[in-house]
Amino acid sequence: MIIAVDGPTASGKGTISKELAKHFNLPFLDTGLLYRAVGWTLREQRGNADNPEHALRACTFDGALLNEPGLRSEAVGGLASRVSVHPEVRSALDKRQKDFAYQSAGAVLDGRDIGTVIAPDADVKLFVTASSEARAVRRFEEMKRRGEKVNFDDILADILKRDERDRSRVTAPLKPAGDADLLDTTDLTIGDAIQQAIALVNAKISRR
Ligand code: DC
Repeated sequence: MIIAVDGPTASGKGTISKELAKHFNLPFLDTGLLYRAVGWTLREQRGNADNPEHALRACTFDGALLNEPGLRSEAVGGLASRVSVHPEVRSALDKRQKDFAYQSAGAVLDGRDIGTVIAPDADVKLFVTASSEARAVRRFEEMKRRGEKVNFDDILADILKRDERDRSRVTAPLKPAGDADLLDTTDLTIGDAIQQAIALVNAKISRR
């Protein structure tokens, strides 16, 4: 079984995907980490994220980098969003994601284009959303907990900017697959969102 989970930043898709993988006993890949690793490597190489050649050069990162906690920072997320615009970067990361999706054990992948590009025939496709304000509140709380200095308006502005870039890019933009189930987590606790996601998967597979 392949479960594709897509959605914008801070929608809850990461946590939901991890829990789905646990619940259904499937391997899990957070594909955002691959783009983040490119952003990180580009920064180390002092490249320009808007230059496709620089971004492509940064795709040769070492797999061990995926364990680097610094990949999860907002700054690296912004760089990941900028390098992910380039078709060259998307194709460089394509095979790795498809191999993971189509391994015999099945898989859960989360990202922006899993249901549309990486695994268009996934058994289950979820598109997880939440209002931008709700997502900004979550990001704000998360960063405050980590002891970072945060300003709500800056976070909201960053989220809106990242959404706009991810949605409007020409190659593999963020959008729900035609056959995706939508899960709006704006008014849900994370526990309820997980329960609803499990219920959606069960409903889908019982119809097969
Ligand atoms: O999910 P995330 O916030 O870790 O992803 C960081 C950026 O990487 C996101 O803003 C856009 C890009 N990305 C993408 O283009 N396609 C994916 N499948 C996953 C992430």
